[in-house]
Amino acid sequence: MADSLDDAVAKKFGNRNTEFSLNDKSHIKNIIGVVSGKGGVGKSTVTLLLALELNKMGYKVGILDADITGPSIPKAFGLGNGVDGNEDGTLIVPPLTKSGIKIMSINLFLEDPEKPVLWRGPMIASALKQLYSDVLWEELDYLLIDMPPGTGDVSMTVFQSIVPDGVVIVSTPQDLVKMIVGKAVNMANDMKVKVLGLIENMSFMVCPTCQEILFPFGPSHLDSVAQHFEIEALQSLPIDPRINELVDLGLAEGIDSEYVKEACEKIIDNLKK
Ligand SMILES: Nc1ncnc2c1ncn2[C@@H]1O[C@H](COP(=O)(O)OP(=O)(O)O)[C@@H](O)[C@H]1O
Ligand SMILES: [Mg+2]
Repeated sequence: MADSLDDAVAKKFGNRNTEFSLNDKSHIKNIIGVVSGKGGVGKSTVTLLLALELNKMGYKVGILDADITGPSIPKAFGLGNGVDGNEDGTLIVPPLTKSGIKIMSINLFLEDPEKPVLWRGPMIASALKQLYSDVLWEELDYLLIDMPPGTGDVSMTVFQSIVPDGVVIVSTPQDLVKMIVGKAVNMANDMKVKVLGLIENMSFMVCPTCQEILFPFGPSHLDSVAQHFEIEALQSLPIDPRINELVDLGLAEGIDSEYVKEACEKIIDNLKK
C-alpha cells in the first residue's frame, strides 16, 4: 500500500519532526500564512496586497508561493522564469519585484510556466523544502506564504514544515455564509497556529457611474462570522476590476494596496500578542 503523505515526508526528512530549517545566511522575523477554505477566493491576491502594503510601510518582505500546483505570484509581478544561485552556488537568490519584494515560487524553475504541475505529496514536500530552506532570503521582517487552497494534505504539510507564526484567513461573502471558513479555523487550531484574523474578499463594489456601494453577493458577514469563531475581523475588500487587469498584465505593483492598510496594522499587532 502507498505511504501516507505524513509517512512519505517523515521517511524523506527523518522521523515525525518535519519542520524545515532555514539556511544560516537568512533570518525571518515573522512568517504569515495566507489560507482559505477553498480555491478561487482571492488568496493569492490578498497575499500580494499584504506584501505590497507591508513593503510600503518600510518592512523587508518576501513571498513564498507554496501553492505548488497553482502558482500565480511571479506572473502577477511580471517575473519570468529563471533564477540565479549565490556565489558558491549553495543557495537560490530570490528575484526582486520592482519595489524590492523577494519572490520564490516553483514557477520560476519551470520551462513552461503555463504547464500544470502534476506532482504528488512527497514531491511537493521536497520542492517546498528547497523553496524555503535553500533560498537566500537574508533578513526579512515578514515572509508571506501563499498557501495551497483548502485544508487537505498539502496544506497540512506546509503547516507542519514551514510552521507559520500565524495565518490570515481569506473568504468571500458566500463562503462566510456556508461556514467554509470554519474548516480553515479548525485546521489552524489543530496545527496550533495562531489565527491573525479574517479578510472578506469581494465583499462589495463601488458603482463606477454613481459611486453607490453595492453588495452583489449580499450583505457582509465578516463581523458575525469573526465573532462566531472568536477571531479578529481584519477587513472587507471590494471587487475591483483593476486588480484583475493589473495582475493579468504582470503589473501587480500598480494596485492600490491601501485597501489592506488596516488589515496590515492589525496583523502586525496580533503577531506581537
Ligand atoms: N477583490 C478583487 N477584485 C477583483 N478581482 C479579484 C479580487 N480578488 C481576486 N480577484 C481575481 O479573482 C481571481 C481569483 O483570485 P486569486 O487571488 O487567484 O484566488 P486564489 O489564490 O484563492 O485561487 C483572479 O483572477 C483575481 O485577479
Ligand atoms: Mg492562488
